[in-house]
Amino acid sequence: MVKAVAVITVSDSCFKDNSKDTSGPALAEFVKKLFPEANLHTIIIPDEKEIIERELKYFCESNLDLILTTGGTGFSSRDVTPEATKAIIHKEVPAITVAITIESLKKTPMAMLSRSVAGIRDKTLIINFPGSKKAVTECFEIVKPVLPHAVALIA
Ligand code: MTE
Repeated sequence: MVKAVAVITVSDSCFKDNSKDTSGPALAEFVKKLFPEANLHTIIIPDEKEIIERELKYFCESNLDLILTTGGTGFSSRDVTPEATKAIIHKEVPAITVAITIESLKKTPMAMLSRSVAGIRDKTLIINFPGSKKAVTECFEIVKPVLPHAVALIA
């Protein structure tokens, strides 16, 4: 059973002005629908590798089952969510990101521009999504069917 989930928005602009965050709230709604019983934590942090690593570790230590990040997966110099995620995971789960890429490419060639990572730290599954409402809507739909079983396997 999924008991606790975090949605982390990683974005300098949303950190400065929380009202600009559209992908985080959308993702939070999808999580609430799929796991209505789960405790949901949402935060907005800037594109700083150390801060992303610290928050990911904090939520893993808090025994969360699942962490979904949105933003910071692209090509700009400030996009470091995948690097921060890689730095703190114990096991990478490349097939999740392969599936996201394959399915997303059917929607937009821009899917090539996301460097998202998925992996496991202790008993927490972490998945990076891009930083738009459209992207999280499409990407969540792709991983949704496997999330309950994936979390059950790690627990
Ligand atoms: N994936 C899906 N499914 N749908 C999208 O609209 N947008 C792409 C890509 N992945 C997109 C997507 C775009 S335009 C970019 S720049 C990259 O994700 C990285 O986005 P990020 O820097 O906000 O993380």
